[in-house]
Amino acid sequence: DAGSKSGRGALVVLEGLDRSGKSSQCARLLSYLEGQGCRAEGWRFPDRGTCVGQMISAYLANESQLDDRTIHLLFSANRWEKRALMESKLLGGTTLIVDRYSYSGVAFSAAKGLDIQWCKAPDVGLIAPDLVIYLDVQPEKAAERGGYGGERYEKIEFQKRVADHYHSLRDSTWKVVDGSLPMETVEEHLRELATNCIQECQEKPLTNLTW
Ligand code: TMP
Ligand code: MG
Repeated sequence: DAGSKSGRGALVVLEGLDRSGKSSQCARLLSYLEGQGCRAEGWRFPDRGTCVGQMISAYLANESQLDDRTIHLLFSANRWEKRALMESKLLGGTTLIVDRYSYSGVAFSAAKGLDIQWCKAPDVGLIAPDLVIYLDVQPEKAAERGGYGGERYEKIEFQKRVADHYHSLRDSTWKVVDGSLPMETVEEHLRELATNCIQECQEKPLTNLTW
């Protein structure tokens, strides 16, 4: 009975290339956890519902042009504006399943050639995830999936560079799941990883991201 005790919620982040299956898997994981009686919410970054998020959304749709560092800082600001709510949800016992976080911020901006340390700096002090699940899919495979190419970064050569940067960001909180396995198999892996994480972090204090 994951999360039914009185401890804090877990911050579980899913990362991966565009069209790696993150959003579908987040939704499946969330409904599984809810079915288990676990208090959980699905979040995503960018959160396009805020003013900052609308600027990001217009940029991604190629409806506006922004300097590379400017858009990087907007993505970070979009996480900062949600930090207080994130903290109160977690401390109140709600687990958050988050589709993209600071690792997307660094991997995508670094793939444009920005300095990695510069990219990491604005996210220092955000809440550190308890678990990062990386859905590993070859850029070529992702590109075959429906809806590809609609937004700014959905180009194979660019996604290959993003994948390299994701690789260099992996640390002890990361679990890599082969996203090319059947959907049900991936789902099963995610259930197990998330359930264990939720149980293990109930009594652990929240920490901040330091990289
Ligand atoms: P989405 O498709 O998950 O909504 O993400 C939109 C795009 O934004 C995706 O190509 C990844 C990119 N991105 C960044 O470049 N920096 C960030 O900080 C985040 C969260 C996403
Ligand atoms: Mg997308």
